[in-house]
Amino acid sequence: MATILSVANQKGGDGKTTTAINVVMSLRDAGYRVHVLDTDPQGTFSGWAKIRKEKGLDKFAVENITFAMMEDRVTELRVTELRGASEIDVVLIDCPGNIQDITTEAVRLSDAVLCPVRSTHFDFQATMMFMRRVADTSTKILLFINAKHGSRAIDKSANENLARVTAKYPNAIVLKAEIPDAVQIAEFGGTGMSVAEYAPKSLAARLYKKLTKEVVECLAKSAQTSAS
Ligand SMILES: Nc1ncnc2c1ncn2[C@@H]1O[C@H](COP(=O)(O)OP(=O)(O)OP(=O)(O)O)[C@@H](O)[C@H]1O
Ligand SMILES: [Mg+2]
Repeated sequence: MATILSVANQKGGDGKTTTAINVVMSLRDAGYRVHVLDTDPQGTFSGWAKIRKEKGLDKFAVENITFAMMEDRVTELRVTELRGASEIDVVLIDCPGNIQDITTEAVRLSDAVLCPVRSTHFDFQATMMFMRRVADTSTKILLFINAKHGSRAIDKSANENLARVTAKYPNAIVLKAEIPDAVQIAEFGGTGMSVAEYAPKSLAARLYKKLTKEVVECLAKSAQTSAS
């Protein structure tokens, strides 16, 4: 049975696709067989995969799901089909910013949601709105600080603050891994590579690996809990 993992938050531009690409590639490096559903009409993940293919790098399945398909419950049927596929370990759904219906549907269909949060007040505000919207699901919401600046005061205690403001939601888990605001992360998109391929020795590459490991541990824990 495949695990369904969405990358979502309702705020636009908080790093969902950047996270999705690097976590998927890190999962692949760890031996997981992944399948990507791109639900964003902007098709950012699909565009990156196209560059990858054009460059002759090894490709992988990215399937586009449109809003119309969501309405027709095609997505639900497709996710159910993929969940049972013996050749897939993880289905990753990259969600769009600001299109609530798609995100709500993806959260409902997922075992867990990976949720990047920038440290600013507005990003926290949007994340709290997102948490309220998904509070009645049992889906685990794995939040982490993205694009952390080394020199800003608001970033220093961002992780603790995120844990504090989400503490009342039993399905919220704040991860230890924090992804820095890094030049390699800003640059890798046009290369068709992951950050780990583009800048293997960078701190960013190491931290995406750490983030992925934590996600895998959380997924394993929640699978154990639901089995017992
Ligand atoms: N940790 C980071 N360090 C540096 N730049 C980052 C980081 N995370 C994201 N970015 C940059 O922020 C911008 C938005 O990232 P991305 O497209 O991944 O966000 P998104 O949440 O998928 O956006 P949308 O809501 O439009 O789908 C991009 O220019 C990306 O390169
Ligand atoms: Mg995106």
